[in-house]
Amino acid sequence: MSRKVIIDCDPGIDDAVALMIALFDPRLDVLAVTSTAGNVNADQAFTNLQALIECLDPPRRPRIAMGPGPLSAPPVDSTFLHGSDGLGEIHLEVAKLHQTHSAEKLISDECRAFPEAVTILCLGPMTNIANCLQRDPSFASHVGQVVIMGGSVNGIGNVTPCAEFNCHFDAESARRVLHSKTTKTVVPLDITSQVMFGIDLLEHIPKGDSRVSQLLNQILPFSFRSHRRHLAQEGISLDDAVALIALLQPELFESVPMAGDVETQGDLTLGATIFDRRTVKTWTNNMEVITTVDVAGVRDSILRGIIQAAKATI
Ligand code: BDR
Ligand code: CA
Repeated sequence: MSRKVIIDCDPGIDDAVALMIALFDPRLDVLAVTSTAGNVNADQAFTNLQALIECLDPPRRPRIAMGPGPLSAPPVDSTFLHGSDGLGEIHLEVAKLHQTHSAEKLISDECRAFPEAVTILCLGPMTNIANCLQRDPSFASHVGQVVIMGGSVNGIGNVTPCAEFNCHFDAESARRVLHSKTTKTVVPLDITSQVMFGIDLLEHIPKGDSRVSQLLNQILPFSFRSHRRHLAQEGISLDDAVALIALLQPELFESVPMAGDVETQGDLTLGATIFDRRTVKTWTNNMEVITTVDVAGVRDSILRGIIQAAKATI
């Protein structure tokens, strides 16, 4: 039986790769995909989500909805890495919808409809999930599991010296989700950044003009160029795709229960994740954190996922 998931994302090139793999993976039943502000603003994130679903045209269309983004956010985005449109400057076109649904409501409704059976995969700032928790005190008890791409255990960030992007962009929401009584697995930057892809990734995109291949050929070259130019990196990581594989194939990872929190105040440390790793700790474990990864295995799974999605979109 396939696993019911909701994907909450801020597309984003790596979000797009994760989404295309998930939509065509028979192990998953993607009930809904929701957008949030992060890599790009809330409007652009939803436009991208709508455009990706329309372009990929999966056999079973998930419901889609838009989140408003946090009330206030630090002045950061990732357009320098993902392009001004978040998808490598390809400016996918979509028809403006007359009515957009609320992400918070859609996520709550789906989790209530299938109590404890839905996994929420968070690939962006956790604003929508925090809003669900705030709106409905019973929400946490309906959710099956939350898998989060976010945070950093070794204290090294990507958006600031010590904060990972998704936790920094909406630290209050990240804290609310980590404090919630949900079952959580965190896939931190320390893990996702180990799975690097060199430029030869472009040669692994299946030949032919499947919709997935066309899309990847449009968005991935931008990612390599921006990582070289702005981060002096020859390769790219696809953080959100790694988080998806953690959900699909947990056997490729090791995790430990940890007690963690998110800094919501610091001038220098906003969004930094703090874990109590003292020998005698006083915090209570509140999540499972991935600590090791089979890099080759995960890379293979991502490539296989891309091939599978390409075959399905010829
Ligand atoms: C996370 O931040 C975003 O830029 C990526 O899409 C990913 O979700 C990595 O820190
Ligand atoms: Ca993302």
